[in-house]
Amino acid sequence: MTDYKIKFIDEHKISDKRVLVRVDFNVSMNKNFTIADDERIQQSLPTLQNLLENNNRIILASHLGRPETRDSKYTLQPVAERLETYLDGYSVRLIDDFESESPETFENQKPNEIFLLENIRFYPKEQKNDPAFAQQLANLADVYVNEAFGSSHRAHASVVGIAELLPSYGGLLLKKELEMITEAAGNPKKPMVAIIGGAKISTKIHFMSKLLNMADYLLVGGGVANNFLAAQGFEIGNSLVEYEEIENARRILFEAAQKDTAVVLPQDVILGEPDNSKEGGDVVKVEEVPKDGTILDIGPETTAQFGSIIAKAKTIIWSGPVGYFENPVFGRGTDFIYYAIAQNKDVLSIIGGGDTLAAVSKKEYLDTITHISTGGGAMLEFIENGTLPGIEALQN
Ligand code: 3PG
Repeated sequence: MTDYKIKFIDEHKISDKRVLVRVDFNVSMNKNFTIADDERIQQSLPTLQNLLENNNRIILASHLGRPETRDSKYTLQPVAERLETYLDGYSVRLIDDFESESPETFENQKPNEIFLLENIRFYPKEQKNDPAFAQQLANLADVYVNEAFGSSHRAHASVVGIAELLPSYGGLLLKKELEMITEAAGNPKKPMVAIIGGAKISTKIHFMSKLLNMADYLLVGGGVANNFLAAQGFEIGNSLVEYEEIENARRILFEAAQKDTAVVLPQDVILGEPDNSKEGGDVVKVEEVPKDGTILDIGPETTAQFGSIIAKAKTIIWSGPVGYFENPVFGRGTDFIYYAIAQNKDVLSIIGGGDTLAAVSKKEYLDTITHISTGGGAMLEFIENGTLPGIEALQN
């Protein structure tokens, strides 16, 4: 049980209603617009099954990507097709534009029919949390369920506005996410190890400051690490970096020196060409990166050092791959971290973030990970603040 004053659907039965469920079907897509990883769809199935078994009609709303307005690249059609394969006996119909769709479509929704509204970010009013837009969404249903933990840090109409207009509930995935992350971050068993990677430091910098008060070790890889290496005066060549954040990286190192958290940066890295899938990269020490080099993974010495720290951890939080894992040649550091966590039998481990999910979701031993969060930014913000706008909205 969480301490939140949220009505979850397994504790408060919803039956014979029209239910608008906000899901986070912002799945990883391949360059040819097919689904690369559908973990977020699969994780929402228990909630959908619960609602269907209780004779409810479901209308789903989700975003995909960050379109500013209608853009066919970001259609949810592949998601509708994939979802249908998981729900035997039900059809999933994509509603292209719910604003212009005839009211009869919704009135005549069949018991074995699920509606999926087209990408909710095709409507610019969604991100503005426009009250009239939230009301239009609310008009489609009797009840609202938030099953989109991964989007609950966004104060958008389908996450926050609608919850103020309809009787509102939390879904099963939302509940699991809150319980597991609260357990890991609320009172972590020591040593606690946080592993932060991914492309951008700007989305993680606040969280990293917060980690300095929680974690014993902060292992840094991926594009995030390049900012720290640059802050220490190392050459990073053409590697991914956010120059305006280097000062923040320096501040984190300064703060860490005054606390008990060890910030562990790469000692060696792999250089290469991102799209070269044949040859492995070159291993160099961080002080040897040339002006035209591109850092694409952590090196073997660093993986060994990270591995020995992971082996003694009692709590692990991991967000962000430590290399350009999309090319398997540069995915070895990320793989290594995953297997090191899986081999620690005595750890509470939480892995989160869209890319991290895509990097690990097809691997063996997933059952050894305590919780794989569907949230990226949401997970980090939840650990940082203990709540999220979408969670607050369900409690009011
Ligand atoms: C995510 O992938 O973290 C969520 O779906 C939120 O997406 P957003 O950062 O585009 O709001």
